[in-house]
Amino acid sequence: MREDIERILFTEAEMKQRVDELGAELTRDFGDKNPMFLGVLKGCFVFMADLIRRFDAPCTMDFMAVSSYGSGTSSTGAVKITKDLSQDIHGRHVIIVEDILDTGITLSYLKKYLQNRAPASITICTMFDKPERREVNIQADYCGFSIPNAFVVGYGLDYDEKYRNFPDLGILKEEVYR
Ligand code: PRP
Repeated sequence: MREDIERILFTEAEMKQRVDELGAELTRDFGDKNPMFLGVLKGCFVFMADLIRRFDAPCTMDFMAVSSYGSGTSSTGAVKITKDLSQDIHGRHVIIVEDILDTGITLSYLKKYLQNRAPASITICTMFDKPERREVNIQADYCGFSIPNAFVVGYGLDYDEKYRNFPDLGILKEEVYR
């Protein structure tokens, strides 16, 4: 895998340190609220597994899976839920856990969808943010790293379903996806 990587943006150790900080912040802010961590599959699974083990208080967790309609270049905001919640979120403090916030279309849709189920609050926690790519007005409440507009893989992020298991976050060589 490493031969397909142009440059490492963050090492496993750097990301671990940042996740430790995020876990401490979330424990400070939600430690007495029994929050529900809601992971958005598939990309979230590595970050989610690391983050919840740094949350030092009672909590529950659930997962949803979503996919964009059409080619993925659509900016219609049309998102399809392929796996729904399995728990009631009424009155709960929901912390959405994402690997990456890009155009914002997915999270914008998801936030509205969840708001209809009357949670006590909705908070967005993303490991990576690409602010340059934003198409809708949405921001993360907690963010690991802001990153440039480059094709990144690893730490759960894929290209064609590959590289999710790459332990660092790297920029993929252009020749791999061109
Ligand atoms: C990624 C990521 C977010 C979404 C963000 O998922 O996990 O859910 O894209 O993009 P947006 O801000 O432009 O909506 P992807 O569709 O690549 O699926 P995956 O999680 O299964 O890799």
